Amino acid sequence: MNTELIAVDPVRPDRSLVARAARVIRAGGLVAFPTETVYGLGADGLNPEAVQRLFVAKGRPQDNPLILHVASPEGAWALVDPEASGAMQERAAGLVARFWPGPLTLVVPAAEHVPRAVTAGLDTVAVRMPDHAVALALIEEAGCPLAGPSANVSGRPSPTTADHVLEDLGGRIEMILDAGPTGVGVESTVLDLTHWPPVILRPGGVTAEMLAAVVGEVREPAPGELGRGPAPSPGTKYRHYAPRVPLLLAAELPPAGLARLLEEGRRQEAAGRRVGVLVADEEAPLIPASWAVSTVGGRQRPREVAARLFGAMRELERAGVDVILALPYAEEGLGRAIMNRLRKASSGSL
Ligand code: TXA
Ligand code: MG
Repeated sequence: MNTELIAVDPVRPDRSLVARAARVIRAGGLVAFPTETVYGLGADGLNPEAVQRLFVAKGRPQDNPLILHVASPEGAWALVDPEASGAMQERAAGLVARFWPGPLTLVVPAAEHVPRAVTAGLDTVAVRMPDHAVALALIEEAGCPLAGPSANVSGRPSPTTADHVLEDLGGRIEMILDAGPTGVGVESTVLDLTHWPPVILRPGGVTAEMLAAVVGEVREPAPGELGRGPAPSPGTKYRHYAPRVPLLLAAELPPAGLARLLEEGRRQEAAGRRVGVLVADEEAPLIPASWAVSTVGGRQRPREVAARLFGAMRELERAGVDVILALPYAEEGLGRAIMNRLRKASSGSL
């Protein structure tokens, strides 16, 4: 299959280009589209065959449910079980008013007409309204909610540019809408509203503190709660976001972590391996010249780090390194999402 790459303006997308992409979606095809977090792989979320194609194109395990992307809160309410408790609906409405459009996905009881291919057989559905003009225009024009996992091959780092999408899915999907690099860089926060207090299934751009300010209380999953038995978020049990080469994550922040990283890098180099490091701007000048370096911005600027994280992993891969050594970040606010992705990408610690 020839994958068509179409450039669109991120703020004022040309309606005729969006209409072309929407026709592909309505015909059951797959179109990668930009959101404020990462690129998504869109299919008609109410068409089980299109959704099935999506799982195949990504190589995604069938038991990992998909997010439905909507263009308005009304679009989301139509996907929620009308019998859902009033308290839950009230919490959802409060969060939607505060954070949509934006990087927050809500897990709620699913309406009957939501295909079980989307929910992987669960009776809940994940919904989100992205904050990106191209995504919103595409959903509106297609006239259906868009099933939209990140547009990477399952297990790989999420794509933050159209080029990343092409690298993973070129030849497997009909079209990519290229609106340049995405802004947030890590995927949306996934909040399960079917529990009290609501459970953060995946940390992201909207932090626990921001959520608690609206609904009063949220909690992290208990140890082992994710990925056991009938898992509340089946996706969390798989290794994720991983580059093709091993990524080793230092256990400690600099300076101790940096000393460990330098020591390990020298050891690896002595063993004949090409070393790549993923570090903040501050650490880059201390890295030996023979190693490949990808920087993610200022250590005190987590928004930069989040935006650059996945791209930096792919950059090192392309540089042909045999191993990637990375440093951790302070685990507060957006730092929790950054560390969650780094841990899942890593194959070991330093
Ligand atoms: O920022 C994002 O959320 C991006 C952009 C494209 O919107 N999408 C994204 O989709 O990251 P995906 O499929 O890569 O991740 C969706 C996550 C998975 O961990 C999945 O298990 C979880 O949401 N999820 C989806 N439906 C669920 C449900 N009904 N219950 C619990 N978890 C669910
Ligand atoms: Mg994903």
